[in-house]
Amino acid sequence: VKVLVIGGTGTIGGAVAQALSHRHDVIACGLTSGDVQADITEPDNIRDLFSGAGPVDAVVVTAGEATFKPLAEMTEEDYETGFRSKLMGQVNVVRLGEPHVRDNGSFTLTSGITSHEPMAGSTGFSMVNAAIEGFVRAAALELPRGIRINAVSPQWASQTLELYGMDPSMGLPPERLAAGYVESVEGKRTGLVIDAGWRYDGSDIVSVDAP
Ligand SMILES: NC(=O)c1ccc[n+]([C@@H]2O[C@H](COP(=O)([O-])OP(=O)(O)OC[C@H]3O[C@@H](n4cnc5c(N)ncnc54)[C@H](OP(=O)(O)O)[C@@H]3O)[C@@H](O)[C@H]2O)c1
Repeated sequence: VKVLVIGGTGTIGGAVAQALSHRHDVIACGLTSGDVQADITEPDNIRDLFSGAGPVDAVVVTAGEATFKPLAEMTEEDYETGFRSKLMGQVNVVRLGEPHVRDNGSFTLTSGITSHEPMAGSTGFSMVNAAIEGFVRAAALELPRGIRINAVSPQWASQTLELYGMDPSMGLPPERLAAGYVESVEGKRTGLVIDAGWRYDGSDIVSVDAP
């Protein structure tokens, strides 16, 4: 099937694109890199992306920013970054992309572990991650033509922890996180938050948190 991976050149998206490319025709979209480029904070860019990519069977989004800062330092603009980019960027991909997804196709969005495992500094992420999960559960009831939608909630990637100067051994290699996305694209279920990695037990199995 034809899969558009928005954010497909990043840490997680790159591993997802790689995992899917064994069995599918993958188009990797980045902001400035990849097979095609688009900015998901700009609705016109999203429209152009889908017009150019043509009908697709699956859309995966592993792009979107939010702000990580102590609560006392978070400004309204910091919250708006997450709202405009990680939340509304992904919501607009679904709204504007739906007519370009084939019957029985799918959307897979990205939330994150901080929706249900918050930490100091995570309010900007926790807020949008929880909103993405709520959107997915509700949108699954209404998407037409058998189109499915799930969110994947990744654990920390080891590379990302290293980048932030934290202990990488607490994270997982992105290839392991990719399994949750593959399950969403290739499986039959909809309206789920797929917990990719958090209850990792040494196997490739991902646990599924049904609402
Ligand atoms: N990494 C982790 O440990 C972790 C854990 C939990 C959740 N997450 C979530 O997973 C998602 C991906 O994280 P990541 O660490 O893989 O990010 P990343 O390495 O920074 O990669 C981001 C990807 O998105 C693209 N991108 C950035 N801004 C964009 C925009 N406005 N429109 C379209 N594409 C854009 C980038 O393209 P360019 O390369 O061209 O800029 C790149 O392909 C994020 O939502 C993040 O919150 C990550």
